[in-house]
Amino acid sequence: FEFDDISEKEIAKILSKYPEERKASGTLPLLYIVQDQLKRETGHAWIPLVAMDLIAARLAVPSVRVYEVASFYTMFNTKPVGKYHLQICTTTSCWLRGSDDVVAACKKAAGVKEFGETSEDGLFTLSHVECLGACANAPILQVNDDYYEDMNGPRTEAVIDALRAGEDPAPGPSTGRLSSAPEGGRK
Ligand code: FES
Repeated sequence: FEFDDISEKEIAKILSKYPEERKASGTLPLLYIVQDQLKRETGHAWIPLVAMDLIAARLAVPSVRVYEVASFYTMFNTKPVGKYHLQICTTTSCWLRGSDDVVAACKKAAGVKEFGETSEDGLFTLSHVECLGACANAPILQVNDDYYEDMNGPRTEAVIDALRAGEDPAPGPSTGRLSSAPEGGRK
């Protein structure tokens, strides 16, 4: 792994924000930069160990400091994930509002049996995550960076079927009530 030109420009921008003795603060953004690069290059967003070592070298910290951050946050993938990373919030509000139905629909529509698995066609990886901060519209399904809100079984299957068909289903609340971010947090 090597940083490409796009990543190098992003890294320079990030590091310019911190004093030299505080550049370890760039750990989170640099992990995102690597994950985005892998997504660009391979279609799979993840962070290989060798890239974590490179980040550590850039930030002049021991590699373990980068490993521990990458393995703590669920938004960083330490192994390759499918084109669509289905992340289901199973924390209390979402669970009370039916996240079990969302999980069952994801397994059925995506063709995966367990959390952590990727479908045979490489399209979908299923993960469960903690509160996504959008409890007002629980239950929440996050697909890559987008939030799909007020989900239930049929709605979940429809989103996954649309993704499989190459469509771009609109994220956000189905009720029109905003939770955490307009347009479902889409960048
Ligand atoms: Fe699911 Fe908060 S509990 S978004």
